[in-house]
Amino acid sequence: MKNIQFFFASTTIWSLLFALICASHSSTGSNSSSPDIINYNDFSLQFEDYFNQTELNTTIWKVGDNLVRTKDQFQIYTKENVKLKNNSLVISAQYNSTIWKGQKYDYTGGYLDTRGDLGFKFKYGYAEARIKLPQLYTNDSSFPAFWGLPADNSRWHYSVEIDIMEYCNVCSGKDTSTYIYGAYIYGNREQYGDCRIWYRSPMKQLDFTQYHLYGMLWNENEVTFYVDGVANFSYIAKDPSNNSSVGCPIVIPNRDFYLILNFAVIQKFAKPEHYKETKEMYVDYVRVYKSKNQ
Ligand SMILES: *[C@@H]1O[C@H](CO)[C@@H](O)[C@H](O)[C@H]1NC(C)=O
Ligand SMILES: *[C@@H]1O[C@H](CO)[C@@H](O)[C@H](O)[C@H]1NC(C)=O
Ligand SMILES: *[C@@H]1O[C@H](CO)[C@@H](O)[C@H](O)[C@H]1NC(C)=O
Ligand SMILES: *[C@@H]1O[C@H](CO)[C@@H](O)[C@H](O)[C@H]1NC(C)=O
Ligand SMILES: *[C@@H]1O[C@H](CO)[C@@H](O)[C@H](O)[C@H]1NC(C)=O
Ligand SMILES: *[C@@H]1O[C@H](CO)[C@@H](O)[C@H](O)[C@H]1NC(C)=O
Ligand SMILES: *[C@@H]1O[C@H](CO)[C@@H](O)[C@H](O)[C@H]1NC(C)=O
Ligand SMILES: *[C@@H]1O[C@H](CO)[C@@H](O)[C@H](O)[C@H]1NC(C)=O
Ligand SMILES: *[C@@H]1O[C@H](CO)[C@@H](O)[C@H](O)[C@H]1NC(C)=O
Repeated sequence: MKNIQFFFASTTIWSLLFALICASHSSTGSNSSSPDIINYNDFSLQFEDYFNQTELNTTIWKVGDNLVRTKDQFQIYTKENVKLKNNSLVISAQYNSTIWKGQKYDYTGGYLDTRGDLGFKFKYGYAEARIKLPQLYTNDSSFPAFWGLPADNSRWHYSVEIDIMEYCNVCSGKDTSTYIYGAYIYGNREQYGDCRIWYRSPMKQLDFTQYHLYGMLWNENEVTFYVDGVANFSYIAKDPSNNSSVGCPIVIPNRDFYLILNFAVIQKFAKPEHYKETKEMYVDYVRVYKSKNQ
């Protein structure tokens, strides 16, 4: 009995030590140097917003109003879909016809990014947001996200976007019933075309309608995605051991990015009955940290 207990105690200690020494989350191949669990002591804060003021700080955030982001985008972003409520940022999407510049949009959504006058941009570090998502219908058109783009507006040929959290159940072909946490960056577009490297986690065990932390740790060598501070997947730069799986060499962005929070509607699946109630994404806070050892 004693021996068995000792055996269990020592294996527990050894597996703990092992977990501390070796990152055990999935990656594109070579060993990830990102921790399995975020230790906030390794970081210093460089940006935070708790959305607990009476008004959104528009010197940091720029809210999209009558914003059509790309030519083929379906909904129009209006300022009515970005609010502060009960110490949270609430970004919504709804079925509500709006005419803008002669064009009719059946749905409106919310969009804001950190490109206000003072703004915020960063290169490397740990970015996270505490987010609560709406319940979706089967084949729902909702597409809320927390992501980033290069601050110099370049769609430079490497890695044009980082999606820290995308919530969607029609983004994965025929598998329409599952909720998806997705994140991807792009490879070299000039050389490889639209080479999308992404992972998706069905994460059926996660109740997305409760608050969770969606985070990304980014350094020169890799980008690692975290849920509730636990690493799930790493992209490792120029990983020769396993890049055929993603179709292009992985390149890690090396320039400033700004952050975006938005709630889009996917045209192909949009149904008014999915918007009997306004769909809402709640953001409790956004924080960005710098690595102390960088
Ligand atoms: C290669 O990368 C894919 C993801 O792109 C991953 O699922 C797979 O486990 C990796 N294979 C090895 C041998 O590391
Ligand atoms: C990962 O680390 C282990 C243990 O240090 C090593 O044996 C292995 O070769 C490494 N794999 C890669 C792809 O670097
Ligand atoms: C907002 O929340 C943060 C973190 O809890 C707190 O430090 C700060 O004092 C709050 N600000 C206001 C205006 O309530
Ligand atoms: C808004 O953000 C700027 C930049 O961080 C800061 O200087 C300013 O005090 C903030 N305004 C309010 C009302 O909190
Ligand atoms: C407001 O926020 C508090 C704290 O997060 C929560 O307990 C409460 O249910 C919220 N109220 C509403 C109306 O959402
Ligand atoms: C719905 O659309 C009308 C017409 O464009 C607009 O005036 C109104 O503010 C919108 N309502 C909401 C809640 O966005
Ligand atoms: C969802 O979409 C799939 C694929 O288009 C379709 O086969 C299925 O019948 C749809 N389900 C519902 C409930 O709309
Ligand atoms: C990553 O996500 C997958 C898919 O949901 C899940 O099975 C796995 O447990 C997660 N890994 C970690 C380390 O959280
Ligand atoms: C894999 O990466 C290596 C090193 O970056 C590169 O030389 C090779 O072309 C890549 N292979 C593919 C299929 O992209």
